[in-house]
Amino acid sequence: MDVVEGRLFLEGRLQKACVGIEEGRIVKVKKVLRGEEHHDFGEMLVLPGAVDPHVHFRDPGQTHKEDFSSGSLSALFGGVTCVLDMPNTLPPVIDAQTLEEKRLVVAGRSWVDYGLFAGLAPRTKIESMSACHAFKVFLGSSTHSVLLQGDDELKRVMREVGATGKVVSVHAEEERLLRRMDEHSLRDHEESRPREAELEAIKRLLPFRGTTRINVCHISCLESLSLLRGSGMTFETTPHHMLLDSSMDLGAWGKVNPPLRRRADREALLAAFCRGEVTMLATDHAPHAPEEKERGFGEAPSGVPGVETGFSMMLALVKRGHLSLDVLLQAACAAPARTFGLNKGEIAVGREADLVVVDPREMRTVKGRELHSRCGWTPFEGREALFPRAVFVRGTLAMEEGSLVAERPGREVPHA
Ligand code: DOR
Ligand code: ZN
Repeated sequence: MDVVEGRLFLEGRLQKACVGIEEGRIVKVKKVLRGEEHHDFGEMLVLPGAVDPHVHFRDPGQTHKEDFSSGSLSALFGGVTCVLDMPNTLPPVIDAQTLEEKRLVVAGRSWVDYGLFAGLAPRTKIESMSACHAFKVFLGSSTHSVLLQGDDELKRVMREVGATGKVVSVHAEEERLLRRMDEHSLRDHEESRPREAELEAIKRLLPFRGTTRINVCHISCLESLSLLRGSGMTFETTPHHMLLDSSMDLGAWGKVNPPLRRRADREALLAAFCRGEVTMLATDHAPHAPEEKERGFGEAPSGVPGVETGFSMMLALVKRGHLSLDVLLQAACAAPARTFGLNKGEIAVGREADLVVVDPREMRTVKGRELHSRCGWTPFEGREALFPRAVFVRGTLAMEEGSLVAERPGREVPHA
């Protein structure tokens, strides 16, 4: 047995304790444990690794923006030990053969555990996609997305996905409410993709909630939360919708779908998150190359990177006293693991030993050039974050003090 010792969050408070690990799983959690290898992190926090249920690693097809290696490395350095990767890679993962090809392309290259989404397009044969971890539907167009429109198609896929028992994550922006217009600013972008588009899309999903496990991606405003609360659907919000808004001077670097909204929206969403009202934190890590973002507002692609900064910036909010650790660990670790059927997200006997060690005294400033994503920039430049000092993936120490200390330990998670 190996042992990791430090301050753990147990029974609602931080206390010194030990985690016993065998064959990648947690076998004991006790005040005192003796093991063959003993990692004593003293007063540092030992937390469950975050599970990010929404990333775009661009592999295959757009590896100049990111690939599975760089994206998963960025996750590792942000304390994210498992990611679920979206299907809008190239070619889009909307059939069994492309899914199989993508699985082969990424196998053996990840620093963290991962699962793959399959996209649902009008002709997708759902019963042939058993190798995916979950499904994704785009109700409104976004970067390289394949749209699913029409009530009949939506009914069909909801019925068939319901029969598989897998989750369907939905990009909830209603296509017919998106406006084509000349855009020069974040305010224009927000106007072109109004909140009504998000609300309408969520309303379209309500009839299916009894039969299908629906997860609504990246909600951008409190009105969406009001529709979703108590609906039986899970939902995500992102660090950028809680920390950035359209009044900020970000230009195309802040262009993302759904758009950043008003300052009041952002503050209300963050406050709701801090009250524990949002199911999951998801970064929607969507890297684009700097030259693509510099094309001029209208032409710049939508999407911002964030897998390395999401959990770590939220930990900084915990340190500052704005957010409780309990709420964060629920939204960033336990809830995504539970929602997507992963044996992760908690320090408890039987769970996989994905652990993140954080020194709460070591607040750092986010700098794009120090992050590990290939894209090399961040919309959170200059913000505070608590980056991990060490990360274990299923019991293997993968990163310590900024150095990689194991061969890529990541593997595909068992299909739900
Ligand atoms: O802003 C976005 N970027 N929204 C999406 O839905 C897709 C993503 C991307 O892949 O770049
Ligand atoms: Zn996305």
